[in-house]
Amino acid sequence: MNDARRISVLHITDLHLFAEQGRELLGVVTDASLEAVLDLALAEATPDALLVTGDVTQEGDAGAYQRASDIVAQRFSGPSLWLPGNHDLGTAMQAAGPGMDRLELGDWLIVAIDTHVDGEVSGHIDAAEFECLEGLLTRAKAPHVLVCGHHPPVPVGTSWLDTQVIDNAAQLLAMLERHERVCGYLFGHIHQAFEAMHGRLRIIASPSTCFQFEAGSEQFAVSGLSPGYRWLNLRADGSIETTVHRVERIRVQPIRRKRGY
Ligand SMILES: [Fe+2]
Repeated sequence: MNDARRISVLHITDLHLFAEQGRELLGVVTDASLEAVLDLALAEATPDALLVTGDVTQEGDAGAYQRASDIVAQRFSGPSLWLPGNHDLGTAMQAAGPGMDRLELGDWLIVAIDTHVDGEVSGHIDAAEFECLEGLLTRAKAPHVLVCGHHPPVPVGTSWLDTQVIDNAAQLLAMLERHERVCGYLFGHIHQAFEAMHGRLRIIASPSTCFQFEAGSEQFAVSGLSPGYRWLNLRADGSIETTVHRVERIRVQPIRRKRGY
């Protein structure tokens, strides 16, 4: 294996930015937390690409997308892939236009899929999105593919979040399994680190850049874990080496309550 051909990717997710600077959500100032995550990660290494898997904003306003885009652009000038989450609004995000929906880097194609429906919490993939993904996977020349979306395709063991799995995930997973170039699916939404296998597919989620949900909790709960991010090394043989890092200096107060946010 030629490790010089590996692609280094930084994954950040669930930024929950507001249009106004300095706003707090569940005890975390979301823009300051994003800045701290990027500053720490980019001091460690410069990635070949940045992946941002949804909930870029909390309320879907244009100003918040601009702020997210500016915060990233001030620190990283390489290629980035952005996709929407349940807190985003498709049209506003498209108009703001941060980043690309696919990246070709060395031996890897990285593809974004849209699993969000405006105003809905749960994930769904519409027919047009499936058709587009099928076309991309069929035409892919890169030997390896990583697919990215916002919502989980499998239960993650946190029961209140497991009601929000992509409702037609079986169709997605069958498509990804059929195309042997696909090595994994990377997502956000669950505000916690997660890794599993589905057949040969790596199923991977990363911590949020702001607050984290308590893993294994039956009802809404914010854990005391700090904001985080994930490094992925995409290797020339199709394997993925990955680690999660956190901004330990940002302390978060755990929260338990019946309703979400
Ligand atoms: Fe989120």
